[in-house]
Amino acid sequence: MDFEKEIAKRRTFGIISHPDAGKTTLTEKLLLFGGAIQEAGAVKSNKIKKSATSDFMEIERQRGISVATSVLAFYYKDKKINILDTPGHKDFAEDTFRTLTAVDSVIVVIDVAKGVEEQTEKLVEVCRMRSIPMIVFINKLDREGKDAFDLMDEVEQKLGLTVTPLSFPIGIGYDFKGIYNIYEKNINLFSGNNKQHVEETVAFDTIDSPELERIIGETAAGELRDHLELVNGVYPEFDTTAYLEGNLQPVFFGSALNNFGVRELLDCFIDIAPPPRPKMAEERLVVAKEQDFSGFVFKIHANMDPKHRDRLAFVKIVSGTFERNTPYLHVRHDKKLKFSSPNAFFAEKKAIVDISYPGDIVGLHDTGNFKIGDTLTSGEQLHYKGIPSFSPEHFRYINNADPMKAKQLNKGIDQLMDEGVAQLFTLELNGRKIIGTVGALQYEVIQYRLEHEYGAKCTYENFPAHKACWIEPDETNPDFQEFKRVKQKFLARDKSGQLVFLADSAFSLQMTQQKYPSVKFYFTSEFE
Ligand code: G4P
Repeated sequence: MDFEKEIAKRRTFGIISHPDAGKTTLTEKLLLFGGAIQEAGAVKSNKIKKSATSDFMEIERQRGISVATSVLAFYYKDKKINILDTPGHKDFAEDTFRTLTAVDSVIVVIDVAKGVEEQTEKLVEVCRMRSIPMIVFINKLDREGKDAFDLMDEVEQKLGLTVTPLSFPIGIGYDFKGIYNIYEKNINLFSGNNKQHVEETVAFDTIDSPELERIIGETAAGELRDHLELVNGVYPEFDTTAYLEGNLQPVFFGSALNNFGVRELLDCFIDIAPPPRPKMAEERLVVAKEQDFSGFVFKIHANMDPKHRDRLAFVKIVSGTFERNTPYLHVRHDKKLKFSSPNAFFAEKKAIVDISYPGDIVGLHDTGNFKIGDTLTSGEQLHYKGIPSFSPEHFRYINNADPMKAKQLNKGIDQLMDEGVAQLFTLELNGRKIIGTVGALQYEVIQYRLEHEYGAKCTYENFPAHKACWIEPDETNPDFQEFKRVKQKFLARDKSGQLVFLADSAFSLQMTQQKYPSVKFYFTSEFE
C-alpha cells in the first residue's frame, strides 16, 4: 500500500550538540548530499551570538533564520529526511527539549578536541530518558584532538551511553589519513592539497590485506589493525534492535567541514534509523499506519511582520494523512478547524502541500488557536503526552509600564507564553505575574516583542526564586494544608492552573520537602 510505503520512507530526526561542535556545518553537508542545496554556505547558522543581547535587530534576524531552518526536508536514496532544527544556545534549551518530542531519532555531534560538553549532556539525558535512538558523530578529525578510545570512554561515562564505533579514524589532525568504515568494510582516504576532497574509497575484504600498507603506509596500517582489534575486543557488535531501543549508540568519526565521513554517516543513518515511531497519548498508544490522522503542535513561531499577526504552528504528524481543506478536531477546544494553506518544508523553502504523511511536519497558519502540546485528530479524543515544562532558571515580576495598554500587555503575555517563549506564574497571594525563563536573553526578547508586536510596555523586577516545583494537590492531607498555609507567599499557579512552589533557595526547597514528606513535589509540569 502506498500509504505504508510513504511511512517507511520517512526519517525525522534532530541534530543535537553544544554550540560550535559543528551542527550547522553537518546539516549543510547532509543537504548537499541530498541535492537540496548546491553550495556550501547556504544554510545560515541560527546561533544567537553573544552580541545579540543588546542588538534586537539581530534577534529578529535570527528568528527569521530559525523559522527558515526549523524543518529542513530532503530526499536521499528514496528516503524522505526531515531534519528538525534544535537551537544550541542554552537560553533556548526549552525549545530544543520540545523539538525532541517530535523527532524519531537524533544525531549527537561532538567536537573531537572539546569532548562532551555541558549542553550535550543535558540534551542527551532527555533523549536517553525517552529511549530515542542516537547516533554519535565525532567531528573535526582534521584538527588535533582527543584519542578516539578516550573519547568513546568519555561519551560512555558522561552521557551514560553504551557505544560501538561503526567507523574508525586513521590518524588525527595533521596525520589524519582517512576513515575505516567498519559498517561497510572499506576505507575512505582523505587527501588533496588542503585535504578538501575525498580521494577514493577502497573496499577491503579483510583488514589483513597487504594492500593496506600500500595505501596508508606501514605505520598507519599497523596502528589501524591494532585499533580494530581493540575495537573488536572491547565494544559490543552493532545490533540494530539495541540501537532502536536506545540501548546501543553507534559512533562515527569525520570532519563535517571537509565533508569527510558524512556520507558514511548518512548511508548508515537511512539504513538503521527508525521510520516514524508510535507515540503515547493519554488514552492509548498510536501507531503511524493507523488510517485516522493525528498529530501535535511542538513549536509555534510568531510572524515577524507585525502587520500580520498570524503565527505558524508546527505539527508533527503521528498517524494517518493530513490533507489540505479537511476539517480536523482541535481536541483542547473541541472544535473542528480546516486549513487551506498548510506548509511543507523543503531545504530552505516552504510550499503549500495537499497531503502529508506520518513523520512529516506541517506548518499551519494560526491566529491564536494553538498552544504548544495541542493535539489535532480526525475526530478522536486524543491527548498526546510528553511536552512538559521544566523549572525555569530565572524569575522576574513583570510590571505594566503603560496603564493605558493593560489589555495589550495581557494579550501579548498570553500569546508569547502559548508560543513557549517563557513560563508565566501568578502568585496566589496577590495575583502578581512572574515570568520564568531558562536564560536572561528571553527577558529582552519578550520586552522587545511586547512593544513591537502588541504595543505594550513592561518593566521587570527581580523575584528571588531558585526553582519552580509542581505540587500535586491533596486537600485531604493535613500536611498539604499546613504546607499551603505556611508557604503561601511562595505559591503560584502556572498557565494551566497547576499549583507551583517557588522555592527561594536549594536549601529551603530541601527543608520544605523534609518537613512535608507526604506532599508531592515534581520538577516538571507533567506528572502522573
Ligand atoms: P554549531 O552549529 O554546532 O554551533 O557549529 P557550526 O557548524 O557553526 O561550526 C562551528 C565552527 O566549527 C565553524 O567555524 C565551523 O566552520 C567549524 N567546523 C565545523 N566542522 C568542522 C570540521 O570538521 N573541522 C574544522 N576544522 N572545523 C569545523 P567558525 O570559524 O566558528 O565559523 P565559520 O566562520 O567557519 O562559519
